[in-house]
Amino acid sequence: MSLISESLEAPPVAVSITGLRKSFGEKVVLDGVDLTIRRGEFVVLLGRSGTGKTTLLRLLTGLEAPDAGEVLVPGRRTTVYQEARLVPSKRVLGNVTIGQRRSRSAREAGLRALAEVHLDGKARQWPATLSGGEAQRVALARALVREPELLLLDEPFAALDALTRLQMQELVGELVARHRPAVLMVTHDVDEAVRLADRVLVLDAGRFAADREIDVPRPRQRTDPRALRHQAELLAALGVTPGSAP
Ligand SMILES: Nc1ncnc2c1ncn2[C@@H]1O[C@H](COP(=O)(O)OP(=O)(O)O)[C@@H](O)[C@H]1O
Ligand SMILES: [Mg+2]
Repeated sequence: MSLISESLEAPPVAVSITGLRKSFGEKVVLDGVDLTIRRGEFVVLLGRSGTGKTTLLRLLTGLEAPDAGEVLVPGRRTTVYQEARLVPSKRVLGNVTIGQRRSRSAREAGLRALAEVHLDGKARQWPATLSGGEAQRVALARALVREPELLLLDEPFAALDALTRLQMQELVGELVARHRPAVLMVTHDVDEAVRLADRVLVLDAGRFAADREIDVPRPRQRTDPRALRHQAELLAALGVTPGSAP
């Protein structure tokens, strides 16, 4: 199918949220949120702890129901969390193909996904034998094999050491560039956000306090003055001004 006919048949929108409200008891977490994510767009969501980032992701996966508003999402969506959440009694490949009918093609797709995360040699290992970074790569392979139209990432690298984290950022950047799902990724790391995102949102007091296109060509250098400017302005939107950090 050509790109043109495809774009005529399906609008280039993966996620459409309008007037989304969500409270827990008295606490208003999302107070009329509007958000459109284009197909293939990589959106990063920043915000202080407890601002409702995970709640927004749970509303997109259907684990929470909105109090008001509309949430339109594609059918194929999958989430990677801070913890890999592997099933300890299944080998690595079994974790990647979990929930799928056993077949040669499912197995081959699982092995291909493992190769993409550079773990093809570990298909028969048990989860307990993996490092934290390897377990997270299995979680990524398990997400990829489902060919999601929407990939949700909730602080996926937060538990990893600094070097592994940088390697994972690079891997996620590559995988997303190849598979082109729409992505909504939560992180606390402004540097990571500016490295990966097409667009960065800052959630604060139930609304987006910033919505910023990251117009820095790839591959991105940390020292690119445009990247540094985005970082400074995002830190300001998060309420972190120079000298205020503890
Ligand atoms: N199931 C729930 N019941 C009650 N309060 C909740 C529930 N889930 C989240 N909250 C509250 O909603 C707010 C936002 O939580 P969360 O979305 O997890 O924030 P974030 O991911 O940005 O740190 C927090 O105050 C949290 O305590
Ligand atoms: Mg959270």
